[in-house]
Amino acid sequence: MELFIKELSVHYTNFDLDVHNLSFQKGINMIIGGNGSGKSTLLNGIIGYEFKHRNVLFNNEQLVLNKDVTYLPQNLNRPDMTIKDFTELTSGQNSDDLLKQFDLYHLKNLSCLNVSGGEFKRAAFVQAILENKPILILDEIEQGLDIKYKKEMFQYIKELSKERVVILNVHDLSLVLSYADKIFGMKKGKVNMTTLPNDITADDLSDVFNVPIEITTYNGKRLIVL
Ligand SMILES: Nc1ncnc2c1ncn2[C@@H]1O[C@H](COP(=O)(O)OP(=O)(O)OP(=O)(O)O)[C@@H](O)[C@H]1O
Ligand SMILES: [Mg+2]
Repeated sequence: MELFIKELSVHYTNFDLDVHNLSFQKGINMIIGGNGSGKSTLLNGIIGYEFKHRNVLFNNEQLVLNKDVTYLPQNLNRPDMTIKDFTELTSGQNSDDLLKQFDLYHLKNLSCLNVSGGEFKRAAFVQAILENKPILILDEIEQGLDIKYKKEMFQYIKELSKERVVILNVHDLSLVLSYADKIFGMKKGKVNMTTLPNDITADDLSDVFNVPIEITTYNGKRLIVL
């Protein structure tokens, strides 16, 4: 299973993204980088059929968006529909089991406008996974989630990623060492670091974020210290 970006160039007034020959395999592919480095532009560009310089392949064939990809953008507008209807909207699948799993079942008849930020985020995740596509793209899914749901969601994503290409970006670096199968560092519209979680160094991180970052070891686990 492979998503391959042969070419993706995006030109905005003050920003250029250029990515060539970038391969995402089955597992959790995590993109890291500072604000404005181009993470959302890259994720959006994978599905951005309007971009002129875009050639993206899935298993050596042209990517077919509605068949292959689920994409959850960084900022999703809340519709005035119930949580249950919203979670089932794109797949037509019954969401009850997942609503229970993510503690949303008791909210299922509330409007998306009337739930908390983290609750809506979980509902959006339920909608996304019900689509059951081989490629799952999540832009800052951890934003606004408390530590319990962050952990449960990433454990769930880890399971899903055994049979899917998951591409996501996070700002919480503790998730990177715990859950990434491969890490991609972005700076100024380019992916200039590709590494495995066990190999990533404090220098790699400091370079990606332009700020000194340390990695320490505690009980055999590597931890990132700001
Ligand atoms: N439609 C647009 N028109 C012009 N410039 C844009 C557009 N979309 C994004 N940009 C610019 O492209 C750059 C990269 O934006 P992008 O949203 O990809 O960053 P990011 O890495 O996702 O940052 P963050 O961590 O803050 O979400 C930014 O400087 C942004 O201002
Ligand atoms: Mg972004």
